[in-house]
Amino acid sequence: MPTQGKTIADFPRLPRHVGIIMDGNGRWAKKHRLAIALGHRSGTENLREIIRHTDDLKIGGLSLYAFSTENWRRSPEEVAALMQLILDFFASEIDELDEKHVRITILGDKAALPQRQRDTLLEAERRTGANTGLRLNIAINYGGRAELVRAARLLAEEVKAGTLDPADIDEESMGRLLYTGDQPDVDLMIRTSGEMRLSNFMLWQCAYAEFVFPTVLWPDFSVAEYDKALMEYARRDRRFGGR
Ligand code: FPP
Repeated sequence: MPTQGKTIADFPRLPRHVGIIMDGNGRWAKKHRLAIALGHRSGTENLREIIRHTDDLKIGGLSLYAFSTENWRRSPEEVAALMQLILDFFASEIDELDEKHVRITILGDKAALPQRQRDTLLEAERRTGANTGLRLNIAINYGGRAELVRAARLLAEEVKAGTLDPADIDEESMGRLLYTGDQPDVDLMIRTSGEMRLSNFMLWQCAYAEFVFPTVLWPDFSVAEYDKALMEYARRDRRFGGR
């Protein structure tokens, strides 16, 4: 089914990189008197259309917050449901994503994930690593502060090895050691469900991001809602600290 929604020509300008905090699955499940796992499953189902639309609009990058380092604190049943969804998502989507030349990058510490999830994510990155289309970043076991600490450690190791002079550490050298590497900063960050927090997502990459907070719960976030957020972005006047 083709993606419904606006086309590139409808937007005066589009972001190069969109981030999405997919919030509200729990409230959606409660509202519909369903188990929380079904809220998350429903929240995975609309992802396909959102990714397709991002690709159709030739937006270069999309970063999705799927599982934070804090999400381990949820009940074992909910964590297990989210872990299963990770496997299901890649099983059902990887062929189409690869055919569309999408390049997948996982943001976060894969080492702490169960073996099957780790293998699935590594394989998705390997299989799509040479693709030149949409950069799809999926944050799993991710925390923005942990990402910065990791980059600082990597820089310290280079200094220790004698390959880097501390005086040469700058935004460029720090930025390239983040999970996003050489990708552009996030231009637009969307968080659904009406919550207005960054919750430790892409702290560095959001330095100049515009924020849009649609009130719909994530499973109800449609392509039409996405277009509204993109149109709101197009109306914003971005000055990057200048006049
Ligand atoms: C926040 O809703 C959502 C999450 C913690 C999980 C988001 C994950 C998905 C949509 C699955 C995506 C999976 C892949 C592999 C891309 P919440 O449960 O915190 O909602 P609440 O605040 O209403 O309780």
